[in-house]
Amino acid sequence: MEHTGWFKDRVFYQIWPRSFYDGDNDGMGDLWGVLQKLDYIKSLGCDGIWFSPLYPSPGVDCGYDVADYMDIDPRFGGMEAFEKVLEEAHKRDMKVIMDLVVNHTSDQHPWFQLSRLKVDPYTDYYIWRPAGKNGKLPNNWDSLFEGKAWQYDELRGEYYLHLFSVGQPDLNMDNPRVREEVKKILRFWLEKGVDGFREDVITFISKVEGLPNDLLPAAKGLRKFNHGPHIHEYLSEFQRDVLSRYDCVTLAESPVITPRMALRYIEEGPEQEIDMMIQFETAAADCFLVEYLPLPFSLRRLKAAFSRWQKILSGRGWNMLYLENHDHPRVISRYGSEEYRVESGKALAAAYLFQQGTPFVYQGQEIGMLNWHPRDPEEYEDVQTLWHYRNRFTFLGKKLRLRLLWRASRDSARTPLQWSGEKNAGFTKAEKPWFTVNDNYREINAEKEERDPDSVLNFYRKAIALRKSLKAVRYGNYREYDRLSGRRYVYSREFEGERLLVICSFSKKEQRFRAPRGFSPGSAELLLQNYPDAPEGRLRPYECRVYRWER
Ligand code: NOJ
Repeated sequence: MEHTGWFKDRVFYQIWPRSFYDGDNDGMGDLWGVLQKLDYIKSLGCDGIWFSPLYPSPGVDCGYDVADYMDIDPRFGGMEAFEKVLEEAHKRDMKVIMDLVVNHTSDQHPWFQLSRLKVDPYTDYYIWRPAGKNGKLPNNWDSLFEGKAWQYDELRGEYYLHLFSVGQPDLNMDNPRVREEVKKILRFWLEKGVDGFREDVITFISKVEGLPNDLLPAAKGLRKFNHGPHIHEYLSEFQRDVLSRYDCVTLAESPVITPRMALRYIEEGPEQEIDMMIQFETAAADCFLVEYLPLPFSLRRLKAAFSRWQKILSGRGWNMLYLENHDHPRVISRYGSEEYRVESGKALAAAYLFQQGTPFVYQGQEIGMLNWHPRDPEEYEDVQTLWHYRNRFTFLGKKLRLRLLWRASRDSARTPLQWSGEKNAGFTKAEKPWFTVNDNYREINAEKEERDPDSVLNFYRKAIALRKSLKAVRYGNYREYDRLSGRRYVYSREFEGERLLVICSFSKKEQRFRAPRGFSPGSAELLLQNYPDAPEGRLRPYECRVYRWER
């Protein structure tokens, strides 16, 4: 089937179902809740939805541990609710994509239970190894969430590999039967009418043969399973046998990847395996690779990452643009300023929404939600967070470790969406929501944002509408100015004589600003801004402006 590239003109909204909106009042978000909020999502200008996993799951990793790929968790409303949401979304011309989690399953998945018992054909569905000499682990890889990457299973008398939590055994993708299962899953959802997939840590599915030790233990084994030897073969197989037969989109998550490496997957042409890559470089401007290794925020690093992806992919592959998702703390708290929440929330929006690519907005980002600061570490839900707290940097005092979690934990962005100033932020009518509501909900909530024409929410609406109306955003050249400035991000987009200039301050201080050569604000049209006026020659804290002029 022809691949029409429809995703290039859309803006996606990411729903992390548990915390979005509770429609049946049991305390947890669900699809009945989504149904009630479809018009809200559409009102942002978003015409696509990515659902984080909705499948039945024990919930060790909030749904990223799948126990049944062909169903919807009853807590989210089951298949009935999903079909209704899909139908209603399509009526509104909104596309729907699912999370495809096939690097691993839940340990409760029947395949795993049968594999433990060595029942064929499931015996080799997972990566099993006997214990080494003197009870040594099969290799030195670390799990990314909990200790070592191996867990001993009494029933089978062997170790299984789990790159994530103990409850998430890795599938053996080298087994052709497992790949057939993946294709069945893809077909099942595509036949149901979904429009594509976000593929969870998909670049981890092919492990180096023999599972050798990683000679650099700090790398946790990553070099032995990220972009492994058969990755392109397997992704091409999925593409050839299933995906190419539908006009669907694919989005691959790759925790460690450069734009040049990404082109091996997403370069447009007959060999293309994936449409867009979820990279982590733009999510690491205040840390070393992961948030648990914090560094001061560096605008220069952020800009360099933005520009690298814009330039290297230009004309060859398509960018996926994002500032937040369920794996990272809130962006205003990281790259902006809580003190200048509204101004910096808007500047951040302008910084990414006018780049080339398909933008994704994560629930709550559009109303400028901030990080959550629990007093007690046991309030956290996330398996990675809790493990980190209990096992890492234990020589530091409790207070310091808690502060690190405030900055680093994924739970910082997983609290229920703040719909109103009512009890539980209007998220649920149940007595107790499944997870703590951020206590700033009376100041920050969708209802309040809705009423204020100058809110972050209304800025997102304007910015998204604007980006859709400008050809230069979809097709234009990208150029960065003031590259060395650590206080502002300035870029232009140009297409057939139409030129856009985006200026964003990332500073709490007022700064002097000289427009790039060839640009005169006097003769340009100011399309979007986050202050009531636009004096020449200076920028106020977190001021942003988008200009257009004809050449
Ligand atoms: C990446 C997902 O985004 C994250 O939430 C999850 O914990 C891991 N993959 C494991 O599935």
